[in-house]
Amino acid sequence: MQTRVLPFNDENIAEAALLIRAGEPVAVPTETVYGLAADATNAEAVARIYEAKGRPSFNPLIVHVSDLGAAQQLGEFSADASALASAHWPGPLTLVVPLREGAGIASIVTAGLPSIGIRVPAHPAMRALLRAVERPLAAPSANASGGISPTRAEHVLKSLGGKISLIINDGATQRGIESTIIAATGGPLRLLRPGPVQIDADPASSDRIEAPGQMASHYAPSKPLRLNAAQAEPDEFMIGFGNIAGDDTLSASADLVEAAARLFDLLHKGDASPKPRIAIAPVPDEGLGAAINDRLRRAAA
Ligand code: TXA
Ligand code: MG
Repeated sequence: MQTRVLPFNDENIAEAALLIRAGEPVAVPTETVYGLAADATNAEAVARIYEAKGRPSFNPLIVHVSDLGAAQQLGEFSADASALASAHWPGPLTLVVPLREGAGIASIVTAGLPSIGIRVPAHPAMRALLRAVERPLAAPSANASGGISPTRAEHVLKSLGGKISLIINDGATQRGIESTIIAATGGPLRLLRPGPVQIDADPASSDRIEAPGQMASHYAPSKPLRLNAAQAEPDEFMIGFGNIAGDDTLSASADLVEAAARLFDLLHKGDASPKPRIAIAPVPDEGLGAAINDRLRRAAA
């Protein structure tokens, strides 16, 4: 894939919006770091973020919206959360709040959690993109997994060149580090990630900050989950893949992007089924499959 780097202007934002609406991730500057943005309502589009980053596990992603009103359609804001939002948005603050029922956000974005991280960015390019796409945008930093966060389009190109089709360039970002993250999910406010905005909140336990993918609150089914199953036992809800069919399938065509997009939905479906146990077919441990298997191992542990 050829990666184009285009300057921030109306025409190029319109082009980026077309790609995003078609399900492709696009790199765009924010005031913190360059983000790799995709339609947060489209699970396969979000799976492509992970594919491009080569990320071996799924974290909950931050969802970007235009204003507090749009944020309130996705999450439930306590008085404390609303006050923080009013004081710091648009700006480098992310609020983790309870996910609103029927918000329409793909479950891969929240990694199956009942909460959602939301921020209203200040950068004119990201704001223009949000207006043009008219959908919430999930966007982690636009670098290959394990790499350094990009503060210039050149950093993105070096890290993800050939893996994404478009980078919107607007020079160096103003803040240079990722947003402050505060959890407002009930009880006292908790600091999940320090960042450009200083806020008085309880420090979260270090495992939450250092390894969000391993957070204790991470979604795991309430039932035993059997991995690498060739076929279901009578009391198992079977999740298929490729040739192995089931009550439902991650991807009948063995497409890993589709499988990643459907993973959390199907774990929830298995959890909600009358069967007391869940079984899942083997998924190849290559590309996005490594991230799928990482999550499955945690869910089965
Ligand atoms: O500055 C930023 O925030 C950049 C730019 C691109 O906006 N974005 C960014 O996004 O850093 P991301 O998706 O890499 O941040 C994900 C982190 C997770 O690792 C986790 O710490 C936290 O946000 N997070 C998101 N949703 C959460 C949730 N529901 N519960 C707990 N933590 C959550
Ligand atoms: Mg990052």
